[in-house]
Amino acid sequence: MRVAIVGATGAVGHELMKVLAESHKQGLLNITEVQLYASARSQGKTLNFAGQDLTVQTTPEGPIPADVVLASAGASISKALAHQWASDGAVVIDNSSAFRYDADVPLVVPEVNGEAALTHQGIIANPNCTTAIAVLAVAPIHRKYGVKRMIVSTYQATSGAGQKGMDELIEQTRVYLSGGEVSHHEFVHPIPFNVIPHIDVFQDNGYTKEEMKVAWETRKILGDDSLNISCTAVRIPTLRTHSEAITLELSTPAVPSEVRALLSTAAGVEVRDDPAQNLYPMPITASGKYDVEVGRIRQSLVFDGGIDLFVSGDQLLKGAALNAVQIAEYLQAQGALG
Ligand code: A2P
Repeated sequence: MRVAIVGATGAVGHELMKVLAESHKQGLLNITEVQLYASARSQGKTLNFAGQDLTVQTTPEGPIPADVVLASAGASISKALAHQWASDGAVVIDNSSAFRYDADVPLVVPEVNGEAALTHQGIIANPNCTTAIAVLAVAPIHRKYGVKRMIVSTYQATSGAGQKGMDELIEQTRVYLSGGEVSHHEFVHPIPFNVIPHIDVFQDNGYTKEEMKVAWETRKILGDDSLNISCTAVRIPTLRTHSEAITLELSTPAVPSEVRALLSTAAGVEVRDDPAQNLYPMPITASGKYDVEVGRIRQSLVFDGGIDLFVSGDQLLKGAALNAVQIAEYLQAQGALG
């Protein structure tokens, strides 16, 4: 399988290379060639893939000679070029928001709706990071108890704004600690020692696009348009891994011990839930992990038989690179690639 990464020099691109190398090593993907693409600024740079130095090329306007294109260079690049790559024969797994809401583009989290990937017409969308992390915990609960309402508050790392977001947190924290004047470019306000309840642009309904993505995408992935979802998305000064507090109103009442048992067998989930031992999900333990940590599972005090929980998932992995590679693995396992 020839794999191309578009956006190879970015934060997600970096993780894509690591996850792909691991997948190849484990025999999940049979990779014969890796091509790396970024902007013209990165032309000629070398990056290491599984011990081999590969040269980054400028993303071409025309065809990419690959079986799978993993696109992670932003929505405008994908909008402009993905259809072309697909019509030249590649399956495009797109990490941007360009096609997520198109009826003919499947939006896939393999553990939840992998079979949707088989309906693709050249392009498969990878969900927004916050959604991908939440649905791993919510989907098994939805299947067993029926989620009627879902209220989410997020604690999102600077990695959501790419490498530049993480760099800004580190550099501006240094400036802050040395008494200088903190500036901001990637975020709407200074990020050190702050929280910012504003990610992506505000919509007419007062919610941000990031918040609406969680609602739109969760409904599409779970295949349930009747689900009521409200989200407040907040940027916090951590480097990577998004966390989310989630409250669920259920059709069938649930008790926390049952939900804990259910999630302990769910794919892609690690239950980390022992308050007596101070054990719960946190970015510091979830970063670098493939599984999403789920804990603080407790009875809702608001909805009868409802559940409150807390998740932490590595935004660059399950929220982006890992999910994209798992989609390719799923297609290969189903004999639907090449
Ligand atoms: P480059 O490093 O050459 O700018 P991040 O999300 O971490 O900021 O990464 C964005 C990725 O998208 C980088 O690999 C970046 O490459 C790439 N990129 C940005 N603009 C373009 C473009 N016009 N064409 C192709 N790749 C681009």
